[in-house]
Amino acid sequence: MTTAEPLLHAADLRKSYGPTPALDGASFAVHPGEVVAVMGPSGSGKSTLLHCLAGIVRPDSGTVHYRGRELSAMPDTERSALRRSEFGFVFQFGQLVPELTCVENVALPLRLTGVARKEAEARAVEWLERLEVEDVGRHRPGQVSGGQGQRVAVARALVTTPRVVFADEPTGALDSLNGERVMRLLTDAAHDTRAAVVLVTHEARVAAYSDREIVVRDGRVRDLAGTI
Ligand SMILES: Nc1ncnc2c1ncn2[C@@H]1O[C@H](COP(=O)(O)OP(=O)(O)O)[C@@H](O)[C@H]1O
Ligand SMILES: [Mg+2]
Repeated sequence: MTTAEPLLHAADLRKSYGPTPALDGASFAVHPGEVVAVMGPSGSGKSTLLHCLAGIVRPDSGTVHYRGRELSAMPDTERSALRRSEFGFVFQFGQLVPELTCVENVALPLRLTGVARKEAEARAVEWLERLEVEDVGRHRPGQVSGGQGQRVAVARALVTTPRVVFADEPTGALDSLNGERVMRLLTDAAHDTRAAVVLVTHEARVAAYSDREIVVRDGRVRDLAGTI
């Protein structure tokens, strides 16, 4: 599925930590509504690529364009505002705020964009229902299972109906049954809201939920045919 303009487009990204290049000329594009799996061995640069695409890490050189605007050149405040309103994030270990209930965790991104508490929590509950974890809404993250916690994290990533969801090994800490469930719920919800998903994983079983797969090797992106 492609439209003329990519939603997010990275060109020739380079990023080094000391002498080691993490990205060494990586290019990548994702279109609206597309679920792309970013595969590759550990240490190949997948997370660094995701962080550059999301404007969390500034590349040493190369550009990232989001809807025609150069993310890598935006001031920090503008970039973080954009992250809050247009991007959603799911990490390997949920990273929910332990002091807040699951409902409050999911409501948090809305609260940060100025939505009133009552409205934010009502929308959070709807998303918990959609992710089939409404019964843990009043629990704190420490009281729920790993699989439930990741579904809460997916609800939190989607509650603002972002245009792009970045997921870095979202099932990496789950058994296969829970992993599959999280992937099914994440991709169904993303398709319903037309969100693009950049899904970092090293598991083929997880990548099978994507529309397209790319492979990162030594800081460069290759498609499955080994070109680019
Ligand atoms: N914050 C950092 N400081 C130093 N080195 C880093 C940092 N982040 C990543 N690296 C290095 O960059 C390379 C790519 O890392 P990463 O993008 O995390 O790969 P992956 O996600 O594919 O495992 C690795 O050699 C890693 O050790
Ligand atoms: Mg990683």
